Amino acid sequence: MAKITTAVLQKMKQQGNKISMLTAYDASFAKLFAEQGVEVLLIGDSLGMVLQGHDDTLPVTVSDIAYHTRAVRAGAPDAFVIADMPFMSYGTLEQALQNVVPLMQAGANMVKLEGGDFLLPTVKALTERGVPVCGHLGLTPQSVHVFGGYKVQGKTDAAADAMVAQAKALQEAGAQLLVLECIPTALAKRITEALYIPVIGIGAGNVTDGQVLVMHDLLGISSGYIPKFSKNYLAQTGEIRSAIAAYVSEVKSRTFPANEHSF
Ligand code: KIV
Repeated sequence: MAKITTAVLQKMKQQGNKISMLTAYDASFAKLFAEQGVEVLLIGDSLGMVLQGHDDTLPVTVSDIAYHTRAVRAGAPDAFVIADMPFMSYGTLEQALQNVVPLMQAGANMVKLEGGDFLLPTVKALTERGVPVCGHLGLTPQSVHVFGGYKVQGKTDAAADAMVAQAKALQEAGAQLLVLECIPTALAKRITEALYIPVIGIGAGNVTDGQVLVMHDLLGISSGYIPKFSKNYLAQTGEIRSAIAAYVSEVKSRTFPANEHSF
C-alpha cells in the first residue's frame, strides 16, 4: 500500500473512493489490516472496553494510547494512524497542547477529539502548530454519562441543525477529518455533502465518505452489548484475513452498512 496522507484521504473524497478505517491496538493486527487495504487505523479509546475490560472509555490514559500507537505504527508503517485523545486529556487548550506530544511522537498522523463548540480554539491551535485533527460528533462515548447511555444523537430538527453547524465550524477551525457516530442516515448525508473534508461514519448509514468499526465487533469477539451498527464478518467468512477483505470490499461498494445497521 502507498503511504496514506491527509492529501490522499482528501483526494479519495473528491473521487468518491470510499475510505475504510478500523480500530487497531497492536502491531500484528495493524499489519494484517494494512495488508488487506484498510487505509486508516484508529487507536481508539474503545481499548478501555475491548482490551482493558472497563464498562466505558473513561479510565483510558494518554500513556495507554501512546503505548498502543507505537505498536500499531510499528506494524503498519504506511497506514494513516489516528490516536484518540482520552477523556479529559483536552479539557483545556493547555492540556491538549501537552498531551498531543506523546501521541504524535509515538507515530500518530492525527489526533481525534470528541465534541463541538468548546473545542474550536483547541482545533485551531493544534492545526496551527502542526497537529492534524479529526473531529468526532454524534454519540461521543466520553460523554456517555451526560447522554444517560449509548443513544442515537441528532434525532430532532434542532439537534440536527446544531450538529451541521458544529461540523462546519470544526472544518473552519482546521479539522481535516470528521467521525460521525450513531446518527440518522439523513443527517449524516447532510453533513457529508456540506463538508469538503472526508467524513467517516459508524452507525451513520452508507452515505459518508468512509466507515469505521471497532475490530472486536467486526470479528464478533466483543462481549456483552453488540451495537446494531456492527457486523460480524468473521462469522460470514471463517477466516480473519478474508473477514477484513470482505469489510473493505463492502465499504468500497457501499454494501456496508445496510439498512439494518443504520438509523
Ligand atoms: O474509540 C473508538 O474506537 C472510536 C470509534 C468507535 C470511532 O472512537
